[in-house]
Amino acid sequence: MRLFTGRAYPELADEVASELGIPITPTSAYDFANGEIFVRFEESVRGSDAFVIQSHSAPVNKQIMEQLIMVDALKRASAKRITVVAPFYGYARQDKKHRGREPISARLMADLFKTAGADRLMCVDLHTSQIQGFFDGPVDHLFALPLLTNYVGSKVDRKNLVIVSPDSGRVRVAERWSDLLGGCSIAFIHKTRDPRIPNESVAGKVVGDVKGMTCVVIDDMIDTAGTITKAVDALIEAGAKDVIIAATHAVLSGPAIDRLKKSRVSEVVVTNTLPIAEESRFDNLTVLSIAPLLARAIKEVFEDGSVTSLFDGHS
Ligand code: R5P
Repeated sequence: MRLFTGRAYPELADEVASELGIPITPTSAYDFANGEIFVRFEESVRGSDAFVIQSHSAPVNKQIMEQLIMVDALKRASAKRITVVAPFYGYARQDKKHRGREPISARLMADLFKTAGADRLMCVDLHTSQIQGFFDGPVDHLFALPLLTNYVGSKVDRKNLVIVSPDSGRVRVAERWSDLLGGCSIAFIHKTRDPRIPNESVAGKVVGDVKGMTCVVIDDMIDTAGTITKAVDALIEAGAKDVIIAATHAVLSGPAIDRLKKSRVSEVVVTNTLPIAEESRFDNLTVLSIAPLLARAIKEVFEDGSVTSLFDGHS
């Protein structure tokens, strides 16, 4: 087994490596003056089971290109099997044509990795599960759900708890949260969005009873934090006692930090699938590490074990 990391978030790869007790294979990478990327592995990789870890953080296109180039280099250096580990898979929100003449960029991403030489993909909480079918090969779709529910469950009174989906599309995930937290009730926000305006949503009505309750708003990602902070406002206005946000991917673009700091949310819980700069951290932000899960999944893949067993307890 060999681990490789691009330059997007080497700290996460280091954490995974220390969980597995193996080093990251030394790699040189630099940018040419015009922005082109150069990569070279400093040791033989022939015959290796290679795991290339790179989260698609901003600048997203650069991180993706670097990972593609690493996969190409591994293929040409005779690695036996190449797994792209993308804890946050970029372009996942473009998974269908909302209107005519649009791309399906999440599919293009899968095709690019396949063409570069990837044999399999490993990702955490894809925006929609169907994206797995875009890649012609095995996809290990990992879930942060157990990590997030364990943490949140240890902090709240489960009797007065409501799991809230910030839109109707995530109600099934809210149901899974509810199952793991002993069957608490669920609610959702009727959210509308103009597909012509990116990063702009209008939080509508709360559907469900949240009066006097502790609400946990769940989402796959916080990008500009518009969706989630509007949900918090709607819940407080509907009489919620307090609101916790729980999301897997802390994209945190543009106004996100400001919005979250000004929001009436009591705690924001995220994982470290993406790097969070020191200056972006704030008092009620909790970051849970996804590294142990990634390490366990990599070990299962390497040993031909069962990744599913990590989530259902059965091998
Ligand atoms: C939307 O479908 C996603 O699940 C997120 O709710 C959304 O992308 C978050 O974006 P923002 O934080 O910019 O509202």
